[in-house]
Amino acid sequence: MYFVVVAIVYLSIIHNLIVPSSTARSIESPQYTVVYTESDFEVRLYKECSWMSALVQGTTSFENSTKDGFHRLYQYIHGANLNSTKIPLSAPVLTSIINASSSHGLDYYVMIYQSPKYERASLQPLPELNLQLNKWKSHCIAIRKFSGFAKDDNIDKEVESLRNSLNKHLSSNNMSSNGTVPITVDKNSSYTIAQYNSSRHLTGRLNEVWINVVLGFTAEGCLPYQEE
Ligand SMILES: *[C@@H]1O[C@H](CO)[C@@H](O)[C@H](O)[C@H]1NC(C)=O
Ligand SMILES: *[C@@H]1O[C@H](CO)[C@@H](O)[C@H](O)[C@H]1NC(C)=O
Ligand SMILES: *[C@@H]1O[C@H](CO)[C@@H](O)[C@H](O)[C@H]1NC(C)=O
Ligand SMILES: *[C@@H]1O[C@H](CO)[C@@H](O)[C@H](O)[C@H]1NC(C)=O
Ligand SMILES: *[C@@H]1O[C@H](CO)[C@@H](O)[C@H](O)[C@H]1NC(C)=O
Ligand SMILES: *[C@@H]1O[C@H](CO)[C@@H](O)[C@H](O)[C@H]1NC(C)=O
Ligand SMILES: *[C@@H]1O[C@H](CO)[C@@H](O)[C@H](O)[C@H]1NC(C)=O
Repeated sequence: MYFVVVAIVYLSIIHNLIVPSSTARSIESPQYTVVYTESDFEVRLYKECSWMSALVQGTTSFENSTKDGFHRLYQYIHGANLNSTKIPLSAPVLTSIINASSSHGLDYYVMIYQSPKYERASLQPLPELNLQLNKWKSHCIAIRKFSGFAKDDNIDKEVESLRNSLNKHLSSNNMSSNGTVPITVDKNSSYTIAQYNSSRHLTGRLNEVWINVVLGFTAEGCLPYQEE
């Protein structure tokens, strides 16, 4: 019985990563403004926002950790919370990959946006799901878009491309009038993969690499980002 339930939940995850039908109500997403645009990346200022987050450790696979974390989040929004309340799925689904310490490999945080309405409802996840609410202060993020499926064998290349763009930009550009360095990025080489579409969509897919911008763009409202 247990396995049947797990299998059904799992298939639902595969087929409903994001409910895409045109009749579906609009999907909630965190709010941002674009503060800088280049041909191959942009910088967005995200407002303060909250993410329900599942930590996954002990694997080196982005795909496996995303499936594991999303499975727990999927149960939460389908009623595995102390109020047994269903929550509409938001977009995008994030996987943050952080090299927090060299001892136990990488930490993967799989996250879904929690809109203020559902945050106010204080829907505590069932403890066995081991989820945390992660609150982000308003901050700036450098973003590169890519299409297709986000997979173990292509995300590194996309992350590298964004880092190269930012480095190139650093050495060749000069946005602040007083000559300060315009962009520096997150320590610990951490980055995030954002996925917007259900896996049943084989074409027209949107994914992004996000890297926190910790300095620069002060004129546009980006403040240095402090890790909490
Ligand atoms: C990902 O999960 C699959 C299925 O459980 C497993 O065969 C594979 O070895 C895992 N990959 C990594 C890199 O852990
Ligand atoms: C960055 O790494 C240090 C140790 O190297 C760790 O203490 C810190 O928590 C890490 N930051 C994040 C955001 O993981
Ligand atoms: C994590 O950081 C440590 C120390 O900086 C480094 O030795 C290790 O190779 C990194 N691990 C990965 C998977 O990037
Ligand atoms: C959910 O339960 C918590 C207590 O566990 C309560 O504070 C909150 O008001 C409830 N939310 C809703 C929407 O019923
Ligand atoms: C930055 O701008 C100043 C004045 O506009 C210029 O003198 C300087 O060479 C520029 N630096 C770079 C790295 O482009
Ligand atoms: C450069 O200008 C920014 C605001 O545009 C300011 O925050 C920063 O302190 C200035 N740096 C120097 C060295 O004056
Ligand atoms: C994938 O998601 C993006 C962002 O929400 C959307 O613009 C695009 O139309 C979606 N693709 C498909 C095939 O639904």
